[in-house]
Amino acid sequence: MKVLVGRDADIKEGRLREVVADGRKYVVGRYKGQLFGMDGKCSHAGFDLVYGTVRDGAVVRPAHGAAFDVNDGKKMTHTGSKDLRVHIVSLEGDDAYIELRSLARQSLVTVGLLPLGPFLLDLPGSRQVP
Ligand code: FES
Repeated sequence: MKVLVGRDADIKEGRLREVVADGRKYVVGRYKGQLFGMDGKCSHAGFDLVYGTVRDGAVVRPAHGAAFDVNDGKKMTHTGSKDLRVHIVSLEGDDAYIELRSLARQSLVTVGLLPLGPFLLDLPGSRQVP
């Protein structure tokens, strides 16, 4: 599933933007000019990653210090129970999209069993792209 994040220019270096799609949270950010996306819930105690910061190639949650690599979602500290999934972020014109990975959903879509329908998104102006 590909979801509009917003305008490329609005995704600032070192900041995080949250996307809610299909009942799950994701974050998109920019580090050294490159866009990245990952799951939006910290694997330590489930806090929202959007309130974290981006520094030294990691998304860092200030609450208990968990850090996750922006490239592969691997946890970089002892805090955090597991790695996070990363998601491809791409540009189409001036707009940024996150391609959400869900293995169960992807396999169902691949065999044509899952109807694609409208999804509710929390961001103003966000929309689903099939
Ligand atoms: S919930 Fe993320 S560091 Fe504790």
